[in-house]
Formats: sequence, structure tokens, C-alpha cells
Amino acid sequence: MLRRAQVSDLPRILEINSELDKDQWTKEKFSDMFEYDFPIWVVTDNADRIIGYAVYLVCLDEARILNLVISKSFQGNGLGETLMTHLMEDAAEKFAAKYAMLEVDASNLQALALYTKLGFRVLCVRKNYYTDKYLRDAYLMQAELPVA
Ligand SMILES: CC(C)(COP(=O)(O)OP(=O)(O)OC[C@H]1O[C@@H](n2cnc3c(N)ncnc32)[C@H](O)[C@@H]1OP(=O)(O)O)[C@@H](O)C(=O)NCCC(=O)NCCS
Repeated sequence: MLRRAQVSDLPRILEINSELDKDQWTKEKFSDMFEYDFPIWVVTDNADRIIGYAVYLVCLDEARILNLVISKSFQGNGLGETLMTHLMEDAAEKFAAKYAMLEVDASNLQALALYTKLGFRVLCVRKNYYTDKYLRDAYLMQAELPVA
């Protein structure tokens, strides 16, 4: 099931985020996003336990996808695709966004495959963009959104 996140979901969202190798999103950052009413969506199981989340913001006609995470043990079941597809439809319907943009680690093959499947194309490469652990490039990717 998909639903908008509530502030009370924050502990579980932080828990999922902490599974990442590079967990750079602080509790304060999430709290700000709730305060400013960023669209944060979660995917849940039948017992409403959160399995993944995604967040975006809209600037003019562009939806910027800020993060998309599915808890490790639930990956590979189509949930990332479901959540991302929903985000793209939501941004088009509610905010009349025409494009979606995101930045992705060029070595993140799962995410790259997902975004390519959903119509994202690489706009440019940001060389040595990620500097934690070792240098990695980032791809700036863009997709057209469905006309609402
Ligand atoms: C990237 C991520 C969100 C994908 O979510 P997921 O639920 O595992 O992906 P899905 O099961 O919905 O897969 C959808 C598509 O993604 C691609 N994909 C997913 N896992 C893949 C893998 N291990 N290898 C290759 N492609 C993969 C495929 O194109 C797949 O479509 P298909 O099943 O028809 O082949 C998930 O791996 C994740 O949370 N990773 C850690 C956080 C992260 O890197 N987020 C991206 C930040 S930019």
C-alpha cells in the first residue's frame, strides 16, 4: 500500500535509512521536510509497517526526486518501481510538473536500471561528485512526466 508519510513514521523511516552505506540524512533534515510539507510517500505491508519511502519537491515544472529507499530485505519485489511510478504521477497530477530530475551514484546499478526502465535519461555526468569512501561520479537524470 502507498500513503503519505506522517511525522509519527519518522522513527521507522530513519531505521530504513540507517541500512544504507551512506546514511547522510539526519533526523533534523527529515523533520524540516515534514515541517515544509514535502511530499514524502511510504510503501507499507498489510500491517501498515513501512517498507520503503521516497520524497520529492517541485520547483516550477520540475519534480526533483530527493531520495528513494526500499528496506534491504524487501528489495527486488517491484516496490521501488511502484513507489517511483507513483511519485511521478503524483508530481504531474498535484503540481503539474512536466519533468522529473534526480541525481544518482553512477556505480548504483540497481537504481540506474530502475530509473532507465522508467524513462530517465542521463543529462550530464558530475565527475567525482561523491567523495565519501572513494571518488564516484554522479549522473544527473531526467524523465518526462505523464500529462495530467
Ligand atoms: C534502487 C532501489 C530503490 C530499487 O528498489 P527495488 O524495490 O529493489 O526495485 P524493483 O524490485 O522495483 O525493481 C524495478 C526495476 O529496477 C531494476 N532493478 C532492481 N534491482 C535490480 C538489480 N539487483 N539488478 C539490476 N536491476 C535491478 C530492474 O530494472 C527492475 O525491473 P525488472 O524487475 O523488470 O527487471 C533499491 O535497490 C534501494 O532502495 N537501494 C538502496 C537505496 C538507493 O540506492 N536508492 C536510490 C537513490 S538515487
